[in-house]
Amino acid sequence: MHEAVAVNPWAMLAYLVSGICFILALRGLSSPASSRNGNRFGMAGMALAIVTTLITHAPGSSQRVCPIAADCWTVFTIDWISAIEIAGAIIIGGGIGIVTARRIAMTAMPQLVAAFHSLVGLAAVLVAIAAYLNPQAFGILQPDGIDIFQSSRIEMGLGIAIGAITFSGSVIAFLKLNGTMGGKPIMLPGRHIINLATIAAILILVGLFHLDTPGLFWAIAILSFVIGFLLIIPIGGADMPVVVSMLNSYSGWAAAAMGFTLHNSAMIITGALVGSSGAILSYIMCRAMNRSFISVIAGGFGGDSGGAAGGEAKEQRPWKRGSAEDAAFLMSQAEQVIIVPGYGMAVAQAQHALREMGDVLKAQGVTIKYAIHPVAGRMPGHMNVLLAEANVPYDEVFELEDINSEFAQTDVAFIIGANDVVNPAAKTDKSSPIYGMPVFDVNKAKTVLFIKRSMGGVGYAGVDNDVFYQDNTMMLLADAKKMVEEIVKAMAH
Ligand code: TAP
Repeated sequence: MHEAVAVNPWAMLAYLVSGICFILALRGLSSPASSRNGNRFGMAGMALAIVTTLITHAPGSSQRVCPIAADCWTVFTIDWISAIEIAGAIIIGGGIGIVTARRIAMTAMPQLVAAFHSLVGLAAVLVAIAAYLNPQAFGILQPDGIDIFQSSRIEMGLGIAIGAITFSGSVIAFLKLNGTMGGKPIMLPGRHIINLATIAAILILVGLFHLDTPGLFWAIAILSFVIGFLLIIPIGGADMPVVVSMLNSYSGWAAAAMGFTLHNSAMIITGALVGSSGAILSYIMCRAMNRSFISVIAGGFGGDSGGAAGGEAKEQRPWKRGSAEDAAFLMSQAEQVIIVPGYGMAVAQAQHALREMGDVLKAQGVTIKYAIHPVAGRMPGHMNVLLAEANVPYDEVFELEDINSEFAQTDVAFIIGANDVVNPAAKTDKSSPIYGMPVFDVNKAKTVLFIKRSMGGVGYAGVDNDVFYQDNTMMLLADAKKMVEEIVKAMAH
């Protein structure tokens, strides 16, 4: 006979409310206008889940005391050492989180996210180890050991496997994104066979985990750490953001699996939400970059210096150079200017100067719109976050499908640090690595103003861009922030 696991109905209710908060958080984060509220819901949900866990699993012991037969009550004795350890961990972890969030540069966000995912994976592994070594403390010990059905050893095996893969994979993703390790794919000979054999071995060991054979737990953990490493090293810099979102998904499934083991509905709900939203985001990013998910996982695409194919623009073709004064004049005469920001705007941190330029033009009666490509920059929502930081009004910001048809009727397309997302080769050149990716039709605007630092620099995909050489294009070669500041100055004269 197995003991039923006692469930506190109030805790279940609180976990359900925190789950609803997380769903509202995801909904809020789907639009820049509601993202702050989304964040607040997320914080409230997490605070409620933590407080509920602390109350229902308070460190200490309770004892039923009956001094007089009819008068009984429960006395709870706090285990102060454990309470201080928990408080210390929350203060240290929370403190590191606050300092990191305040100091991190927007351009370093992808590697920070990768580092955080590695911690989620590590946490799942450590919880699994603790539960495995001390099942009684987690309330999952049955007379015949950790139970297969109620305490779900299979899920514990899956939790440690996915957690370990997330940890080692995210560490590699962090090192590559941070530049500590080269972004070039590292292709081991026979890697597909090695990987498939290792994954098959992990699945078999997880399936056998209910047998309680000594050493199985550690074998799953070690093989999973190794496969996490092997799966990510062949993936190049160009695909790394998709990998980060995929690892995000894994970290959610690891937490959900451990939630089943520990009978914690908050972990199951939150893990499933993170797992599914990460998987959907990976899919959206692959589609927006015209890459198949399988080809990302198979690896081998993308190299150093952030360029997928590396290299420089090869052809020497005539092009026109413009100055800040030229740009100021052309835009002041325009009825509508569509601004297309890209990765270079993030590098130059030009968003504040850009908003100021927009304000000056609007005061002169020019309509300003911002066109945001789903994969502009280096992470989902990169441009939206920067423009929101500079207080660009949300109603001036448009997505690809809502604004692309307007370029043909627009006087000036102002491209600031974007390249691949405005490259017509994506529509015309079948041999191009970006072929099939939806791009802005900036070449259809009456005039194209193109800010980048040099003619030699290429975008992420490492390919030349015909827009540079069009008759109606004026190249503004400079750092994006400097150029925009000079344009604003020129407008004042
Ligand atoms: P890119 O194609 O990478 O082009 C960036 C441009 O910015 C380059 O032409 C570069 O030229 C210029 N630049 C860099 N620093 C600058 C500075 N300080 N001032 C002025 N210009 C500067 O950017 P994009 O158009 O945003 O496209 C994003 C690319 O990243 C796509 O290929 C996409 O598939 C890929 N990607 C995106 C994501 C997400 S989720 N956003 C994920 C994975 C991959 P110079 O060097 O000559 O200045």
